[in-house]
Amino acid sequence: MDDLREKYLKAVADAADEAALEDLRVQAVGKKGEISLKMRELGKMTPEERQVMGPKLNALKDEVNSALAAKKAALADAALDERLRAEWLDVSLPGRPRRMGTIHPVSQVTEEVTAIFADMGFAVAEGPQIETDWYNFDALNIPGHHPARAEMDTFYTHRAEGDNRPPHVLRTHTSPVQIRYMEQHGAPCRVIAPGRVYRADYDQTHTPMFHQVEGLAIDKDISMANLKWVLEEFFSAYFGAKVRTRFRASHFPFTEPSAEVDIQCSWEGGTVKVGEGDDWLEVLGSGMVHPHVLRAAGVDPDQWQGFAFGMGIDRIAMLKYGIPDLRAFFDSDLRWLRHYGFAALDVPAVHSGV
Ligand code: DAH
Repeated sequence: MDDLREKYLKAVADAADEAALEDLRVQAVGKKGEISLKMRELGKMTPEERQVMGPKLNALKDEVNSALAAKKAALADAALDERLRAEWLDVSLPGRPRRMGTIHPVSQVTEEVTAIFADMGFAVAEGPQIETDWYNFDALNIPGHHPARAEMDTFYTHRAEGDNRPPHVLRTHTSPVQIRYMEQHGAPCRVIAPGRVYRADYDQTHTPMFHQVEGLAIDKDISMANLKWVLEEFFSAYFGAKVRTRFRASHFPFTEPSAEVDIQCSWEGGTVKVGEGDDWLEVLGSGMVHPHVLRAAGVDPDQWQGFAFGMGIDRIAMLKYGIPDLRAFFDSDLRWLRHYGFAALDVPAVHSGV
């Protein structure tokens, strides 16, 4: 019995895993285990012998069983310790940085422009980029034979053979939104209309798609003086410094009188600075809305009058943020976007200084 005891206690102590322990349990105390068989022999013994051997065998069986249980628990603990060590994680490590996208300068400037005009009471209007011949030209007092049509390098859509209706165009300016807005809302009104426009032209300062913002203010007594004040207010807020403007008499079919507006700037070492110096830079066209245009939009020119202007968004983005080449705006070059783009939370506001 001492041999049995020694044999199994040592084997249990040496068992490497749960499977080995189970084998040992079957061998020792299973149905046909060595200790179980010995207990069966008790029946053949004399009562005296049984009285001595019975308790001893029971004690041996208990001892082996509890050794098995203790070893099983120890193996489970060791496995858990091993897992805890292997799966250790430093929750204080910094996160892996992820590249974030940026806001395109055109989007940023559109937001800035919108915020400034909103502060002066202008709502925002939109119109379609594929426009009818009527809204893009005729309603704006540009009849079919007018040279302005040819000058605008218009993209025309395709008409089926035999379909003689004038083709739709990719709008060449945001001015048609004036007509659409007045048709829907009448007068008085005060809106800007930012958006994409298209002309077949491509060089360092021209791309076939670019952005304009249209302005329109109609009421009983709006004059060129209001136009000048609004634009100077806008440029000063946008460039963050007092900017002088110069109005030059010009001609647009949709305004009378018409003026091109320059802003004060300086040229030093090939870079332009707005709001200082003695040079002038042309940034927009403007004027008093032509009576034909008001009438085309269903507004009575004997009662109402007002100003309109159209300005290049990309142009003023280049000026404010020192971006030299317009074409790069639309190349989708990641390096350019990371350099000139804005953080998503860099929300423009009139007085945020951005
Ligand atoms: N539509 C003109 C252009 O694309 C810009 C313009 C000039 C808009 C005078 C106006 C305006 O509203 O009054 O060149």
